[in-house]
Amino acid sequence: MKKIAILASGSGSNAENIIQFFKHHPNIQVDSVWSNKRDAFVLERAERLKVEAHPFSMDEFISTDKLLNEFKKREIDLIVLAGFLLLLPQKFVREFLVVNIHPALLPSYGGKGMYGVHVHNAVIANKELESGITIHLVDEVYDHGKVLFQAKCAVESQDTPETLALKIHELEMEHFPRTIEALLSGSD
Ligand code: GAR
Repeated sequence: MKKIAILASGSGSNAENIIQFFKHHPNIQVDSVWSNKRDAFVLERAERLKVEAHPFSMDEFISTDKLLNEFKKREIDLIVLAGFLLLLPQKFVREFLVVNIHPALLPSYGGKGMYGVHVHNAVIANKELESGITIHLVDEVYDHGKVLFQAKCAVESQDTPETLALKIHELEMEHFPRTIEALLSGSD
């Protein structure tokens, strides 16, 4: 059985969707959900779905190897960043396969400060005709690793950041779990 650890900072709709998708999967399971925010809704969602949910401190994440060692002990095969807003320390990328979802067509609209609604605000402000999602491996440079999958949606003149967010959300729900499944099915 391949094991996933999900890292998330916010609402957790992607985390929930991934948990549901792999609930009865023969080869892949969500082991646990981890958040840098003690009150993030993602922790409640995970608990409701009977998946272990853990907040962690910056100390456990960065200064010590507590979280890293926990993932090793659990024999995690893949770390999934699902709305995780901190830069992942390099020690994780060296030890684990890590995948991230970004709500735009990288390399456009990536980098520091480009997350959630900030991305959609920038896309609308620049009158882009299309946006989309990028699912990519995480390497040591922010929003940079190998692109595994992209899907596009149209940005129409009447779109607002909120309506664009809904289109992006639909793409994320449809494609993120499947891309994770393909990634883990292709790795030994
Ligand atoms: C998602 O749209 C994800 O693409 C984005 O945060 C949202 C989290 O929503 N990630 C980033 O912006 C990373 N740079 P969720 O908490 O409901 O899954």
